[in-house]
Amino acid sequence: MSLWKKKPISLLIEEAADNEKSLKRTLTAWSLVALGVGAIIGAGLFVRTAAAAANNAGPSVTYGFILAAVGCALAGLAYAELSSSIPIAGSAYTYTYATMGEFLAWIIGWDLILEYAVGAATVGIAWSEYLNNLLVEVLHTSPIPYEWCHSPFQTSADGVSGIMNIPALFIVGVISLLLIRGIQESAFVNGIIVILKVTIVILIIIIGWGFINPANHATYIPEATKYIDDQGISHNFGGIMGILGAAGTVFFAFIGFDAVSTAAQETINPKRNMPIGILGSLVVCTILYILFAHVLTGVATVEDFRTGGKEASVAFAINKYMIGYAWLGQFVTVAILAGFSSVILVMLLGQSRVFYAMGKDGLLPKALSDLHPKYKTPFKANIVIFIIVGLFAAFVPGDIVGDMTSIGTLFAFILVCISVIVLRKTEPDMKREFKTPWVPFVPVLGVLVCLSMIYGLGWTNWLRLIVWMVLGMIIYFTYSKNHSNLKD
Ligand code: ALA
Repeated sequence: MSLWKKKPISLLIEEAADNEKSLKRTLTAWSLVALGVGAIIGAGLFVRTAAAAANNAGPSVTYGFILAAVGCALAGLAYAELSSSIPIAGSAYTYTYATMGEFLAWIIGWDLILEYAVGAATVGIAWSEYLNNLLVEVLHTSPIPYEWCHSPFQTSADGVSGIMNIPALFIVGVISLLLIRGIQESAFVNGIIVILKVTIVILIIIIGWGFINPANHATYIPEATKYIDDQGISHNFGGIMGILGAAGTVFFAFIGFDAVSTAAQETINPKRNMPIGILGSLVVCTILYILFAHVLTGVATVEDFRTGGKEASVAFAINKYMIGYAWLGQFVTVAILAGFSSVILVMLLGQSRVFYAMGKDGLLPKALSDLHPKYKTPFKANIVIFIIVGLFAAFVPGDIVGDMTSIGTLFAFILVCISVIVLRKTEPDMKREFKTPWVPFVPVLGVLVCLSMIYGLGWTNWLRLIVWMVLGMIIYFTYSKNHSNLKD
């Protein structure tokens, strides 16, 4: 049946070898780890840790991080096998095309828009919040008026309605331009930011450790109850459900390590460097996150994160409790702004490579795969993505796009885990530089852990995912199926 037509793996590899049109190979294992860490540490750690502590789990948010990391590690092993054997731009989309056919490839490609494009918008919105923090706390000037840094669906405590989020739109535009200039330059800028970001996380862990108040950790896993937030939304707080909910929330903090695999075509010796890049960046971040969350929930209280420290929580905790370290609070704000920028960069990069691959295959307009004559980047894809991400960033609230990103990514992880099992059956002789251990046990466990986090995200998010997918199917059957390069 034509829906299940597959792209032959030999054709994929042939396409990659086509140097004329191919992207430049410049990335090493270390630049991949930097790219991964650049994508990973961001709004998830600096914004969602406090939100998960407040709404779901208190100090046991650290267990949420562990559960999310286990899910990511299992999916990461699957990603590493696929990206080391199919070193082509396009990530999970490309793998699915080769293993499970065009229709599911489309589904995953469409789903990846949630992860990369909507994810970039989410971090853009967080960037906008911290910009205000910079203006007020560091530069001691006035903040941007509420209506120009919030979506029309948000209203302030004193009744002002948002119009559009201009700073979020601005940062997405600047980074899109940087990407059009070329990945080598972008990877260099990213490298500097990664060092800054990791430095700040380590500083907070080391200095903050001395300010942990044991009383805040006295009930490490709060008793199971309900918490109604200031917008009237009810959350499972405490107990196992609290930890599950926290895992779904902080899962956002891990999103991006798989973006490394989207740069396979620009990597030197991808068979060796891809697994190092993906798993290496995941390990580094997991250790930092658990320590960071332990310190943050030890320094400030759950009540803080529900009230005054709800926004810019890290800077808030430092300023309120870590007396004598005001400089750290200011440094954090600057580093977070830079850090968020690097996350947006990698997400936009990942999205442009997925559009590039889908354009090449004819599932999206061919123009998306046109390379810039001088910079050799898919600049038309970058421009289209800027428009899509810009609309989300300017007009949708951060928490909505954040949850959409998480659920979309979890769904992508599930499909990638399944791909590994299918590919072992259908292409048993394919050369695999890196093999996922204990197949099918590891990928099946990956699917189960990701499903548990989807469960933790609640029915509103399940509904959003379904609506998004129905929209994608309409586009597939009205456009992509008829324009695909692969004929029946
Ligand atoms: N992991 C990225 C972040 O936390 C998406 O911002």
